[in-house]
Amino acid sequence: MKRVISVVGARPNFMKVAPIHRAFLAYAGAFTHDIVHTGQHYDARMSDAFFSDLDMPQPTWFLGVGSGSHAEQTAKVMTGFDDVLTKANPDYVIVVGDVNSTIACALTSVKRGIRTAHVEAGLRSFDRSMPEEINRLATDAICDDLFVTEDSAVRHLLSEGHSASSIHFVGNTMIDSLLWALPASESSTILSDVGVQEKSYVLVTLHRPSNVDHRDQLAMLLGVLAEISKSCDVVFPIHPRTRKHIMDWNLAQNLPQNLRLIEPVGYVDFLALMNNAQLVLTDSGGIQEETTALGIPCVTARTTTERPVTVEQGTNVLVQPTAAEIRSAVQQILDGSGKHGNRPDLWDGRASDRIAAIIADKLTE
Ligand code: UD1
Ligand code: UDP
Repeated sequence: MKRVISVVGARPNFMKVAPIHRAFLAYAGAFTHDIVHTGQHYDARMSDAFFSDLDMPQPTWFLGVGSGSHAEQTAKVMTGFDDVLTKANPDYVIVVGDVNSTIACALTSVKRGIRTAHVEAGLRSFDRSMPEEINRLATDAICDDLFVTEDSAVRHLLSEGHSASSIHFVGNTMIDSLLWALPASESSTILSDVGVQEKSYVLVTLHRPSNVDHRDQLAMLLGVLAEISKSCDVVFPIHPRTRKHIMDWNLAQNLPQNLRLIEPVGYVDFLALMNNAQLVLTDSGGIQEETTALGIPCVTARTTTERPVTVEQGTNVLVQPTAAEIRSAVQQILDGSGKHGNRPDLWDGRASDRIAAIIADKLTE
């Protein structure tokens, strides 16, 4: 029996791998599928919560690498994953997204001569100051099978010299998870738990180093949120990177009550918060896609996006991360002129089925 291993490590990985695992169940007679968790994210609210929300089996291996510098974290994942590969001897490895665990496991697996796939290949922000851009470029450069979520990614991969036969435009596994979990999100009690009403709040997430690792920038962003909260509730589940800086720099003092700083929430609750928001203000990668799929206006406070389809076809607007630009984009939406968009091609909940069928073929080649 052939053996496939998928890697998860950080929050945005779980929702990309869970539907692939479900799709693989149809091939249970042909190959097995195991999950490796690197432990890049380890807080219960950044990791454990997702296994039950996404009905994902517990990982077969947990590397427990935790936080550290990029070099330290990447190196620990590589040595931990190398041991797993020795024990498990898989025929095929899948990495997803653009986090340090993605490149670390791709590099380890490819150097052992194991056929390796990158799910969410080809996205480019063209901003090499983003650690994720380096991870994306390096991972795509070495992987054998490149599964792609949007047209722009196909163009980038072709222009970087990848063969058309290695590129598979399959759609978006993150949206597979979203469509799968949407019914469950309707029973979530998170709105009343937080104390907000449908369509009467702004949902916020911020964790990009460029926004939260500089005191002045983070203080400015909190100031804008405080201003917005004068006219409308603001719900802000805070990423641990951001929380640490808010605490270290003592920025949480004198914030208005309507600016609700809460812990990160589980996936199903977060879906409910997105789907009932007036708008989402974020610097996340995946949330740009999820709001587009839900048709909820999204303001992305970043200079670039690696997901241009969310702007060209979806509900996303990209704004410079300055007080004036954010204030004006948010106000426009609160005034009723939010962008209407369409769901991009193949974001239909079936991307993982397509991936599973392609991998099943590769395993019999
Ligand atoms: C990582 C990814 C980023 C992704 C984000 C998703 C890289 C380079 N970055 O960023 O692409 O958008 O995850 O959320 O891979 N921490 C905790 N508890 C945790 C995890 C982190 O307290 O469970 C704190 C630690 O102080 C840590 C910091 O957050 O040093 C940053 O964590 P890290 O995994 O290095 O990067 P993220 O900012 O989470
Ligand atoms: N998410 C969540 N709870 C939260 C915030 C986000 O479940 O409190 C989910 C969100 O729905 C999406 C994923 O986490 O599926 C996005 O992860 P994140 O923004 O951390 O990473 P990025 O996509 O920027 O790499």
